Amino acid sequence: MSTHMPSDSPASGTQQASRQTNYDVLIIGSGLAGMSLALRLAEDQRVALLTKGELLDAASAWAQGGIAAVLDDNDSVEEHIRDTHIAGAGLCHEDAVRFVVENGKRAVEWLIEQGVPFTTDENNRAELHLTREGGHSHRRIVHAADATGRAVQKTLVQQLKSHPNIQILEHQIAVDLITSKRLGHLSDKRCYGAYVLDKSTGRVRTIGARSTVLATGGAGKVYVYTTNPDVATGDGVAMAWRAGCAVANMEFMQFHPTCLYHPAAKSYLITEAVRGEGGLLRIPPGYDSAGHRFMPDHDGRAELAPRDVVARAIDFEMKKRGLDFVHLDISHKPPEFLTEHFPNIYAKCLSLGIDITKEPIPVVPAAHYTCGGVVTDLNGRTEVEHLYAVGEVSCTGLHGANRLASNSLLECLVFAEAVRNNIAAHGAIELPPLPAWDESRVTNADEEVILSHNWDELRRFMWDYVGIVRTNKRLERAMHRIHLLNAEINEYYANFRVSNDLIELRNLLQTAELIVRSAMLRKESRGLHYSLDYPETLPTALDTVLKP
Ligand code: FAD
Ligand code: SIN
Repeated sequence: MSTHMPSDSPASGTQQASRQTNYDVLIIGSGLAGMSLALRLAEDQRVALLTKGELLDAASAWAQGGIAAVLDDNDSVEEHIRDTHIAGAGLCHEDAVRFVVENGKRAVEWLIEQGVPFTTDENNRAELHLTREGGHSHRRIVHAADATGRAVQKTLVQQLKSHPNIQILEHQIAVDLITSKRLGHLSDKRCYGAYVLDKSTGRVRTIGARSTVLATGGAGKVYVYTTNPDVATGDGVAMAWRAGCAVANMEFMQFHPTCLYHPAAKSYLITEAVRGEGGLLRIPPGYDSAGHRFMPDHDGRAELAPRDVVARAIDFEMKKRGLDFVHLDISHKPPEFLTEHFPNIYAKCLSLGIDITKEPIPVVPAAHYTCGGVVTDLNGRTEVEHLYAVGEVSCTGLHGANRLASNSLLECLVFAEAVRNNIAAHGAIELPPLPAWDESRVTNADEEVILSHNWDELRRFMWDYVGIVRTNKRLERAMHRIHLLNAEINEYYANFRVSNDLIELRNLLQTAELIVRSAMLRKESRGLHYSLDYPETLPTALDTVLKP
């Protein structure tokens, strides 16, 4: 396929001399999904990589544990597939699971070729060290100490910055996708690019693209307690929904069992690999059964049960005993083992006065991963032509009702390659002049305080009403509040100039509504969705698919 250089053309249908910039492919998001796709595409396409912060502001750069793949002779693809299905509580799609797991080894090899410095085995430096996490029947997690995401992303950034076919656009937030509807073509469903707010100028640009890819990550910021970075506001799901895409399984928000509990730590994860390497969960001192290791009371797999089980067990113990946190203890391991395997966690905890070689770590569950998302096929295609979704924003069928640890980075890599292949194999859309953004809303909303109050209110009631344990009543209350906030925010959106906070709040609200609607539709408990009104799991596993 030929390479098209970016081109500027006057946008039609506007009175202003607003311009549109065209690319072959617009990728929205600079996590692992977006970066790895950009590098693969740039061999023969002109790519714009858009990100609303800096390149490394993404969940991918925060990943700790690692990437799951079958790399050990004693392990097998079938066992990784089985573990994924068990964690997913019967809802994973066999074709998606097999596709990702079978391509896992190649995906890790691609990262090694890019130069990612994965940790090697201390007894044989030619071999990768494989760690273990909950739900995995084998050691199969390749990692770079306890900061895998940072090592991966920093390596890819170096390649991206020197690539002549990649235009990096930082501090630019996509506001909405440009679809046929905007062009007045109501009979087809196509995507032509996106409107993008340049945060430095406050102006909205028109970016035209022959293919557009959502790689916007998850929506952990819908909840007040989360392991996610600030950028995880569900923008991709909300934009895709408004553009006419189906969205599935949004009720399955994964709560990671072990987020550090400390007033000075905003959202710091304690990787599951700590439990994988022998960490035990106990009741803290000062309460009934202090020191008791409680996980065996809940599940035979104890600390290595899948995340939904461990998070629910911690939630149960905290509510039953009135605890603010539980203890995760790995101090029985030799200090040198801990400082070698968990150097960042060791340093972070020590900076807060907790020496993990001598004492336990206070932890609580927190919103971590959005299992649902924009429905795609195995090529990453959405229901809107020339629009793809890849990474956490998507719902490919891999995760079912609960994602298996360290399968997410793997999914980013495997599906990025699939999207690249699909874009290369199929004809691209011809780009017409696109309507410019309506700049008539010139007034700045000077009531920032209202936005931040609404933001806080939303995140808190989502935690209280749509958290680890749900009821019909709580979901109804949440939906009622969402409708009230929606009315207010829609009025803002219609009347004021868009800002980063307004865009994110609008998307958070849209995502929250989709989560609650999906949760209301599921009349059972399965995986991450646990309802006191429907504690049983139904015999047939069905996706919750919402269509706009
Ligand atoms: P992200 O990496 O989240 O990137 C999203 C990008 O989209 C960001 O650059 C963001 O700025 C951009 N963006 C969003 N909206 C817009 C917009 N409107 N306009 C422009 N740009 C936008 N998974 C594993 O497999 N292994 C692990 O060890 C692991 N550890 C984790 C640890 C932590 C603390 C967290 C939070 C998650 C972890 N996960 C792990 C999950 C995994 O990191 C994420 O699911 C994965 O990185 C998602 O990658 P992504 O590329 O889809 O999105
Ligand atoms: C962790 O390191 O515990 C996170 C792994 C994941 O989210 O897959």
